[in-house]
Amino acid sequence: MKKTNSPRSSGSRETFLIFMVVVCGIMATLSVNLLNQPASAPGEAKVVDSTNQDQKDTVPEKAASVALLDVPLATGTEPLDKLFVQSGCAVCHTIPGIAPAQGREGPPLVLGTNGPLRLADPQYQGTATTVREYIQESILNPGVYVVPGYSDRVMPRWYGKRLNALALDRIAAYLEDVKE
Ligand code: HEC
Repeated sequence: MKKTNSPRSSGSRETFLIFMVVVCGIMATLSVNLLNQPASAPGEAKVVDSTNQDQKDTVPEKAASVALLDVPLATGTEPLDKLFVQSGCAVCHTIPGIAPAQGREGPPLVLGTNGPLRLADPQYQGTATTVREYIQESILNPGVYVVPGYSDRVMPRWYGKRLNALALDRIAAYLEDVKE
């Protein structure tokens, strides 16, 4: 019994060991593949993606526009008229009290007078509930409400990227009190 069993068991042990070696080999191969894949695939994907983006949009449009559009226009600590000039508002808007701001592309910025009218306009679809909020919304998301008589898409859409919180806050704080 022992003699017949032990060779058998050692035989089956051998088979088992071989089986285990094979399984380990498969597991090792799998795990290497699994380890390699996430390590290499996203890396490769990233490389491929970025080169694709480079080729498709980053280089021709984005790289150029990133350089131009992502640079803040102002620190926000400038004197007010400088802030309005540097931000470009003065080119398009007339702003009482800001001498260089004589633009005519957009409405005169007299939000102390017009802000409440905008909020009360049945056409107004935005989320602002105060004039201050309306001004911020108008700067960050000009398409939400287009002032009647003026065209949409004239006011730049990128102020959210190019004005910091301080600049935005000082602009809105000034404009909300300007009356006609
Ligand atoms: C290229 C021209 C242009 C520039 C630059 C521009 N705007 Fe405008 N803006 C417009 C036009 C056109 C409108 C009216 C159409 C609309 O509502 O989008 C407008 C509307 C507004 C309104 C809503 C006014 C109202 O009476 O309801 C506010 C507030 C405003 N702009 C603030 C600013 C501020 C602040 C800046 C600078 C940070 C600025 N704009 C820069 C063209 C411009």
